[in-house]
Amino acid sequence: MKNKRIVSGMRPTGKLHLGHFHGVLANWLELQKEYECFFFAADWHSLTTEYDNTGMIRESIHDMVLDWLAFGIDPEKSVIFRQSLVPQHAELNLVLGMITPVSWLERNPTYKEMRENLAAKDLSTFGFLGYPVLMAADIILYKATRVPVGQDQLPHLEITREIARRFNYLYGEVFPEPEALLTETPKVLGLDGRKMSKSYGNAIFLSESDDETRKKVMSMVTDTNRVRRSDPGEPDRCVAFSLNRHYLSEEQKAEIYPACRGAQIGCVECKKIQAEALVQALTPFRVKRTELAARPEVVEEVLADGSRRAAEQADKTMDEVREALKL
Ligand code: TRP
Ligand code: SF4
Repeated sequence: MKNKRIVSGMRPTGKLHLGHFHGVLANWLELQKEYECFFFAADWHSLTTEYDNTGMIRESIHDMVLDWLAFGIDPEKSVIFRQSLVPQHAELNLVLGMITPVSWLERNPTYKEMRENLAAKDLSTFGFLGYPVLMAADIILYKATRVPVGQDQLPHLEITREIARRFNYLYGEVFPEPEALLTETPKVLGLDGRKMSKSYGNAIFLSESDDETRKKVMSMVTDTNRVRRSDPGEPDRCVAFSLNRHYLSEEQKAEIYPACRGAQIGCVECKKIQAEALVQALTPFRVKRTELAARPEVVEEVLADGSRRAAEQADKTMDEVREALKL
């Protein structure tokens, strides 16, 4: 039953890695079965931090949406679009900006954190402060009732709810208050044992070649207590195993546990098994992605068509908004 509407956006950061695969994408795939979903590339949100480096945005969107489609995010089931192709987001952003107290934005913990983390960059802009207002517009423009978010996005969603409430209070009930669908995202470790992230250079990308993936797995940190081949190891403390156990069969895991603990298997041999399991699991995705990449027009068509469908809904909402505001 498709009675609930989901909206979720991703800033285009280019090719996706296994962290996205287990986190956001696996989740979207499930949601798409049950809900009416709007998934979009949040390119205007990218401008909040990349305003001086916009050259990569277009290509990043293309690479990201290729990954979505190859993964099974399906334009027949979901509306897949690009934020900047639906200008109603900007119109609603402007209206919501009028009713959002600056203090709500300044106390946003994500805002403070990001400014500190990206201290080298001048983020003292109107647009960056307004990030959550644009996000609120993205969501309520479609009258979404659920928004799948990770823990880090919760403060933003809370601001969305406050803005929706304030709009309804001032102008009458137009918007439902969207609820967070907190997604359990397993922490995916990268090659070096830190959280997998493009910026740490420790990621395995969905779109890389099988051989690159094999090489990366072979370079992964294992159980650091296991210095010599004859030392017993512990798979539950092994970075490589923690990533690859998702792809190993039950039989393989049942063999590796005692073999590692009893020092009967070396890490090189063990990681070869892990690498093959991972490469095999990624094969259907990679085959599909290669097919799609050979027809670059497909992504553009999907985004153009999705953006038209999104704009239809957005127009309806904006009519109500203008009516409520007596504009
Ligand atoms: N802020 C989100 C992120 O960084 C991206 C985003 C923009 C979003 N608009 C949204 C997510 C609307 C959900 C709904 O991940
Ligand atoms: Fe990890 Fe395998 Fe080495 Fe054990 S044998 S530490 S599970 S790579």
